[in-house]
Amino acid sequence: MLIAGNWKMYKGPGETAEFCLALRDAELGAAAVVVCPPYVSLAVAVQLLAQTEIAVAAQNVHWEGEGAYTGEISAPMLRELGVYGTIVGHSERRQYFGETDECVAKRAEAALAAGLEVIACVGETEEQRERGETEDVLRRQVSVLPDDDGLVVAYEPVWAIGTGKTATPEIAQDAHTFVKSLLDRPVLYGGSVKPDNAGELLAQQDVDGALVGGASLDVDSFAAICRAAPTP
Ligand code: PGA
Repeated sequence: MLIAGNWKMYKGPGETAEFCLALRDAELGAAAVVVCPPYVSLAVAVQLLAQTEIAVAAQNVHWEGEGAYTGEISAPMLRELGVYGTIVGHSERRQYFGETDECVAKRAEAALAAGLEVIACVGETEEQRERGETEDVLRRQVSVLPDDDGLVVAYEPVWAIGTGKTATPEIAQDAHTFVKSLLDRPVLYGGSVKPDNAGELLAQQDVDGALVGGASLDVDSFAAICRAAPTP
């Protein structure tokens, strides 16, 4: 079980330090735990969590090692900081920054080649689900991802992200089974995971963990979600 906290554009270095110090003392249970702060807060998180089991990952990565790509960060740069992995293809990247399946795949491949673990996000919008296109969308998004031991998929239905609308455990289970039929890798669920719904989502057979947004910003609620993971 992997529980990852995606902080999005929250917490600069000061708040990150406070959070990491509190997280070190929190009871997290048996799950593997990862936090994904913004780029500017990665160094302090790596430093403060260095002697713990808690890993630090980025929220995105560029596909070139270096070059004229203003505003981007490369996988070797993240490695140099001591970062263990990265998210790619979050629906907010796809929606607001025009990322395509192909560019998400390039980011994933470059990160894996540099030795980073990758959490690759996929998921349908509400309109796509209503039109019965969920499986087509997942097939298109998953088919470009590399089949690699360092890759984990996160199924995040876009209609459940930050909306308080969680997929039912059955919807999550069905989508995860479908994703695994395309690519045999662990699949995290993401979309309004909270302490009070984490237990039943994580109990589904094909749910291998969670990617948590809003509820990962508070140490107590993040720790409660980590503890909700069933012990293997
Ligand atoms: P949420 O975000 O938990 O706030 O819905 C999940 C995500 O976007 O990864």
